[in-house]
Amino acid sequence: MASAGMARGVRAALAALAVAVFAGCAPSDPAADGGMLADANDWPLWGRTDGEQHYSPLNQINTNSVGRLSLAWHYDLPSGNSATGPLAADGKVFVTSGHSYIRALDAVTGDLLWEFDSHTRELDPAMSMGWGPRGIAYWNQRVFVTTEDGRIFALDANSGETLWETRDFGLDELRNQNGPPRVFDGKLIIGNGGADLSAIRGYVSAYDAMTGERVWRFYTVPDFSQEPENEAMRIAAATWHGVTPGQAGGGTAWNAFSYDPELDLVYIGVGNGFPYNQAIRSPGGGDNLFLASIVAVRADTGEYVWHYQTSPGEQWDHVSVMDMTLATLRIDGRERRVLMQAPKNGFFYVIDRETGEFISAEAFARVTWAERIDQETGRPVENPGARYHGRPGMFELWPGFRGAHSWSPQSFSPRTGLVYIPVIEGATLVGDEGIDVDSPTAHFTNGTVNDSNPDLPGARRSFLRAWDPVSQRERWSVELPGDWPGGTMATAGDLVFQGRIDGQFVAYNARSGREVWSFASQAPIVGPPISFSVDGRQYVTVITGNGATGGGMLTEGLVGYRTDYRLPRRVLTFALDGGDVLPPLDPMPPLAPPDDPTFRSNASLEARGAMVFAMNACMVCHGNNAVAGGAAPDLRTSPYPSDREAFHDIVRGGALQTAGMPRFDHIPVADAEALRQYLRARGQQIGQD
Ligand code: HEC
Repeated sequence: MASAGMARGVRAALAALAVAVFAGCAPSDPAADGGMLADANDWPLWGRTDGEQHYSPLNQINTNSVGRLSLAWHYDLPSGNSATGPLAADGKVFVTSGHSYIRALDAVTGDLLWEFDSHTRELDPAMSMGWGPRGIAYWNQRVFVTTEDGRIFALDANSGETLWETRDFGLDELRNQNGPPRVFDGKLIIGNGGADLSAIRGYVSAYDAMTGERVWRFYTVPDFSQEPENEAMRIAAATWHGVTPGQAGGGTAWNAFSYDPELDLVYIGVGNGFPYNQAIRSPGGGDNLFLASIVAVRADTGEYVWHYQTSPGEQWDHVSVMDMTLATLRIDGRERRVLMQAPKNGFFYVIDRETGEFISAEAFARVTWAERIDQETGRPVENPGARYHGRPGMFELWPGFRGAHSWSPQSFSPRTGLVYIPVIEGATLVGDEGIDVDSPTAHFTNGTVNDSNPDLPGARRSFLRAWDPVSQRERWSVELPGDWPGGTMATAGDLVFQGRIDGQFVAYNARSGREVWSFASQAPIVGPPISFSVDGRQYVTVITGNGATGGGMLTEGLVGYRTDYRLPRRVLTFALDGGDVLPPLDPMPPLAPPDDPTFRSNASLEARGAMVFAMNACMVCHGNNAVAGGAAPDLRTSPYPSDREAFHDIVRGGALQTAGMPRFDHIPVADAEALRQYLRARGQQIGQD
């Protein structure tokens, strides 16, 4: 404890020094927001620094030199999720792909230095819904890796040897862990997800990064079967009414955290409630804290300090787990230490990060659930009908369940003062007409009737938007292909980098939004880019390939783009006058109905197969209605559904388990046969959708 306290003192002193040194650069240099503690040449954490600005202070690659930016090296990854963010430190690039498979590459040459297999595929046959972690963390010569099934590893950054290993939750718990871990103040911070599926109780854990000992755990919602165990839970429990213990919960923190070393606060982004429908979850209403909130806790103890709730009484899957960017902004003539978040609900929030005080919020995308956020109270002014319970028909909810912004990180440039947000424009039709909210089965579909991604005018679109957080206005906006925008990075070269679903890696002028450079990456890009420097040379790295978390599940908005699983997944690294080229792309046969002469239509078996497909979450990897988005093969054109034995070997027997296809040995033979029938029928329907 003493040494941790001392380290924090040293960090605070360094931060103060950084403010002093950089005070000359800009009147309110937000780079001091935890930013200067990371070596400017490295990118050791998901957002590079504790303040999660996704900003590189390097400027060798800039608006003048960017024309010379070209590929320096590439590294081919095997199959599996690659919608992930890399790290760079000490002359190495660290990459996670698939199910927590880690590679360390030489940052200058791209040569493989070591690799680490967490063996998640063998240990967790269900692969916890299929998304490996989106990122990893680096600190003090260590690489930190989490697995979907709840394990945490600290690896020696030089050898890949395991230094410690621990488990945050049991294999049998209905949780998954796929957010990038953070290391703040010598502690590893990690949350988990799963509140779309059952009434789990969300929490965040902190581990000593040196030893793996658990330091604290913060629960985000009460345990309704007991008296509140602390002050935070007393505050929370008073906002839930009529709850049946075991039937309500959520508040998982599956993605974002940030940290202010001077205030000694860790910020937790909290998710949705289970079930979504508040009439089931908390029939007496209430805000249901700390769902859809930002909660500040003491870094040392995990003790509650303040909270701000973005969607009180959340019932639209409007999670607040999106990244929380820390900066210092001059607002109304005052320097404010702020936290900025663009959560799913479509409003961009600026919050005082010392006190949690609401400063401002405006819509950055189309919003129908609320008219505005009241300036006095900081609470939304909801629109009639948004609380769908008991109303006939469906409410046209914008942003829909996917949100106006998901886990793809926004970035902030202290030079331009702008936030670069990957924006999704989309809707969900939602209601609960016909649902018996008192029935236990109402929990399926979260107590709602919904169409989660309907094809409405203006929906299924995406944008890169530059947002001025002081005036709360859009500065510029670029429409992107598809409806799943990639993560962004801003640099001191006044550039914003972002990959696109159509296989382009693009740099924009950070001030004007003009496209100034692009590279044909041969494959979709979802993960965020990073930048680092070795021996005075600046590099930019990004990983290509889609995954389940890259919109690979709700594929309707990706149809028409080449997100095919057969496309290469790669680590691409760029520098000025790079000199490497990608090999030409192998031609791929177009998706066409497979030759299946023995197929006979059987509507009832096909309907049952569609149900089995949905109940087993096959669409998480193989796409809604078996239309794949790049996370796994398109099963409509696969030869296996028409080959009984091979199909059963793969699906029930786990024949492709090491390649990332889970084993579903609990599916009865008759249901697997229904699946086969459904997939063959879907194959014959190609071109008819
Ligand atoms: C965790 C993500 C994931 C889930 C969930 C998943 N699959 Fe797969 N599946 C894969 C991947 C990845 C492959 C490709 C493996 C490889 O590269 O050979 C695959 C391959 C297959 C194949 C072989 C296709 C071919 O042409 O090579 C079949 C058949 C299949 N899956 C059926 C299913 C069914 C049916 C379900 C639901 C019961 C399901 N999968 C759920 C990831 C998944």
